[in-house]
Amino acid sequence: MCSVVNFNINGYHYKLPVIYGTFCEKAINISKLRESTGFITFDPGFKNTGITKSSISFIDGEKGELLYRGYPIEQIINQCSFIETSYLILNGELPNTAQLKSFSEKIKKFNSIHKEINKILDNIPNSYHPMGILSFLTHILDAFINNSLREEDLYLHLLAKLPILAALTYRKKIGLPPTYADPHLDYTSNLLKMFFSIPNQSYELNPIISDALNKILILHADHEQNCSTTTVRLLGSAHAGLFASISAGMSALWGKLHGGANQAVIEMLEAILKSGGNIKKWIEKAKNKKDPFRLMGFGHRIYKNFDPRAKIAKKVAENVIQQLGISDPILELAKDVERKALQDSYFLEKKLYPNIDFYSGIIYQAIGIPKEMFTVMFALGRLPGWMAHWKEMKLNKDPIGRPRQIYIGYKKRNIKKK
Ligand code: ACO
Repeated sequence: MCSVVNFNINGYHYKLPVIYGTFCEKAINISKLRESTGFITFDPGFKNTGITKSSISFIDGEKGELLYRGYPIEQIINQCSFIETSYLILNGELPNTAQLKSFSEKIKKFNSIHKEINKILDNIPNSYHPMGILSFLTHILDAFINNSLREEDLYLHLLAKLPILAALTYRKKIGLPPTYADPHLDYTSNLLKMFFSIPNQSYELNPIISDALNKILILHADHEQNCSTTTVRLLGSAHAGLFASISAGMSALWGKLHGGANQAVIEMLEAILKSGGNIKKWIEKAKNKKDPFRLMGFGHRIYKNFDPRAKIAKKVAENVIQQLGISDPILELAKDVERKALQDSYFLEKKLYPNIDFYSGIIYQAIGIPKEMFTVMFALGRLPGWMAHWKEMKLNKDPIGRPRQIYIGYKKRNIKKK
């Protein structure tokens, strides 16, 4: 393995150090490039740029492999709860029984919000998208948290309070009164009860639904330097607070090319169904470079093979639909779209496979979550990842994120008023 790369610019010879990761991924360290050569690199979309060293999650995009702190996602999904996964992601190791109990109890201790938040929510127009509301409420939550708390307690506050904010947002949308957390329930069961309980009626938990929700939250828990996580790290690098950074991450996640794709996928599948189910026509539309339409839930910056999360989500969707005895034409259609797209040379050559968002919406729909709330559920799942990156960024002492540019505007000129 080489430790430096040699290159020539205009007849001058330079050496740049090479750094390696755990799986021998290699990077040329260009941090002194401009200083020594006068050049910067140009990499729109950061397609070839590593911004940090991280030990939280690892993706092998060619193999279609995802590890959380070294553990394959396939093992975590079958052996851990979302709360254990959150502990793992935040702290680096799986908790033992005592650690898990203490972590869960501390989260329950923070399971309430200030009553002013309900008033603030009441004043937000009901037409506003739940992702905008969640991001806003997460930001303002800061005003109601004791500033002298230990940083570890802030993470627990967010884990405890985000489900409440999500549930309140949903309930307000559909005209249900505010709800309270139930400290006797586990994390996902409490989340479901807060969403769906109706006043004066006892809420019956369905373990099939609870299990599906637990799995889908785990699948979203971290995914290295994606757009929203990078946003969180970037804000943190400027020493913005945790709540402001997470709130900004949510805004990034809302985008249709990122987490907002889960809502867009179901809308696309419904449109395909409504227009007669001619999948081939929609695939042709996605291939047409003059048409801005893309096959939503397909393609990924890193995965050039199956997204392992999509494989698991597909199985979870099939199981939950079968166990609940629902017949969902959208699931059958999604499988058909996947089959047909993966027979098409365009998708094969460009290595465009279903990503997590392709099947997650089908699971949410089966458990009763409406389309507009899909990305909110994604945010609840991604929370431990965002917080772990914020924490790691501080521990690494990463410098403020501040890229350069190639200026192509006017040359210097003088104002000449007429
Ligand atoms: N449908 C049709 N063509 C596509 C699609 C798609 N879904 N995705 C990529 N392509 C094509 C592009 O047009 C491009 O073609 P070209 O080389 O002929 O110009 C090529 O594949 C490469 O695509 P890029 O956009 O350059 O790839 P990038 O890595 O920048 O983007 C992204 C990845 C944003 C996920 C893209 O695949 C996409 O838009 N997918 C649909 C939206 C989606 O599902 N997003 C969720 C991603 S997962 C997540 O964020 C949780």
